[in-house]
Amino acid sequence: MSEDWVETAKAATGRRAADCVEDGMRVGLGTGSTVKHTIIALGERAPDVVCTATSVRSHELATEVGLRVVSPDEITHLDIAIDGADEVSADFYLTKGGGGAHTREKVVATMSDRFIVVVDERKLVDKLGAFGTPVEILPFAPEVTAAWIRDLGASEVAFRQRSSDNGNLLADARFGLIDDPAGLATALSAVPGLVEHGIFSKELVTEVMVAGRGGVSVLPAPHEGAGPQGGA
Ligand code: 5RP
Repeated sequence: MSEDWVETAKAATGRRAADCVEDGMRVGLGTGSTVKHTIIALGERAPDVVCTATSVRSHELATEVGLRVVSPDEITHLDIAIDGADEVSADFYLTKGGGGAHTREKVVATMSDRFIVVVDERKLVDKLGAFGTPVEILPFAPEVTAAWIRDLGASEVAFRQRSSDNGNLLADARFGLIDDPAGLATALSAVPGLVEHGIFSKELVTEVMVAGRGGVSVLPAPHEGAGPQGGA
């Protein structure tokens, strides 16, 4: 698959999601190279909406293209949020945080009635884990926190060079393929000093828009209808 194909796919799914935004909506804007196309498409169409953004770079891009962007506290509830993902499992759990924005992204997704995930088909996996699990860690005792994450089964916790927009450390934990993402998510959420992890529950997801060679397919989340494998 050429890089040109991937960029076309990202633009197709990102722009398709922008079509779901209507006048009067409160809109959550994700982060990354796919949702960038959603933000640009919204800027071109200029619907009468108010947005909140999950990162400094999405905030800057949205402002640049003419969208009104406010803090989450100013709107408190969202009609729709659109974001990319690093992995989408067969049962619609997500790995997010490749761009280091997963803490804000989880807040915004949880604030929203509808959460649309935009990906190209390379992101569809049977089980999460090959990408790694991004984690945001308080800089107070990072090695202690990392050891507790290893105690949960991670073979490695690799710190990134870049900090998050929240001023915390970012790292990638390696758990191998994850059989029980809900259980791991619960265990990670209980680790002191771990600000947020990148496993997003299937309950958050309303639909996944997947760009493949044949165009964009919309997969309703299992709890909204049939999933990618037809399961309820
Ligand atoms: C950022 C994210 C992104 O949504 C995820 O990394 C996908 O990005 P891209 O669309 O560039 O592949 O979680 O924290």
